[in-house]
Amino acid sequence: MSVKNEMLLLLLVIICIKYTYSWSYNPYCWLAECCNKDAIPGDINKLRKTLKDRVYGQHLVETVVDALAAHWSSHYKPSKALTLSFHGWAGSGKNYVSKFIAESLYKRGTKSKHVHHFIGRIHFPLEEHTEMYKENLYIWLKGNITNCAKQLFIFDQVDKMPANVLNAIKPIIDYRDVVDGVDYTKAIFIFLSNTGSGLINEYYEEQWNKGKKREELRLRDFENLIAQGAFNEEDHYIPFLPMQESHVIECIRDEFRQRGVMGPSPLHINEAFEFIQWGPDHSKLFSKTGCKRISAKVGVLVAKYYRPVNEGNDEL
Ligand SMILES: *[C@@H]1O[C@H](CO)[C@@H](O)[C@H](O)[C@H]1NC(C)=O
Repeated sequence: MSVKNEMLLLLLVIICIKYTYSWSYNPYCWLAECCNKDAIPGDINKLRKTLKDRVYGQHLVETVVDALAAHWSSHYKPSKALTLSFHGWAGSGKNYVSKFIAESLYKRGTKSKHVHHFIGRIHFPLEEHTEMYKENLYIWLKGNITNCAKQLFIFDQVDKMPANVLNAIKPIIDYRDVVDGVDYTKAIFIFLSNTGSGLINEYYEEQWNKGKKREELRLRDFENLIAQGAFNEEDHYIPFLPMQESHVIECIRDEFRQRGVMGPSPLHINEAFEFIQWGPDHSKLFSKTGCKRISAKVGVLVAKYYRPVNEGNDEL
């Protein structure tokens, strides 16, 4: 073989390898998580369905689905990263919805290496380390987004973080187009906080007393109450409404269903329901903890009353 032919062969091999690596059935991607359609299906229909089936009393969340659908749509090139800000009381579903978003967009859901979950009190506890947190955050965001543009960053308990930490990502969020060879525009940021939840609840109670239906409330009704998120520049502010009796019961039923109990007895639903505390003091209209802790409670009930008889022999 002449040198020329050898060079040609080498070139061919290189081209082949390059193509295999960008191919979604690349054997490497069977084991590791790649940055392709397989690992990141971005399944908006699944998200729509899950939210409809498993999130109760939060009709305003639909805006999120539309925003996500638009952001990763193949017909549209976003001009900047997408930022969503979720506000509401504990247990109103902010974390729940974030989890469903991760599970619909990424095959490995919250375990995906493209999904990052930061919790204010755990990851950024100390005011005096603010500069270090900022540096790390910037490096991580840049590093991850360089490797794969479609990253999801969830910041929980934003109101518990030192005020300046998120300034580190402000430039990343504001960048339009490519900077230093990094395209930040496909990234998604979700900020969760209790900020504004008192006002949301008050406003909701006021409307409820006037006889207005929950489903009639519009996003713009809440705009002035929560237009103060992590940066004041998020694309969408979503209020999570406080949970009332009917929503809590739906949550309980859902937890039973998740454990294979399709028709729990009213007695057992009641048992799960009883431990919930209601507020505010004057009206007792809302569950103070939303649907939080219901899962554990129902788990205990299912083990107690519904465990199949053939499971373990202490039933004999
Ligand atoms: C990606 O983010 C994680 C934190 O979620 C960080 O530990 C890791 O170092 C980052 N990767 C790169 C390449 O920067």
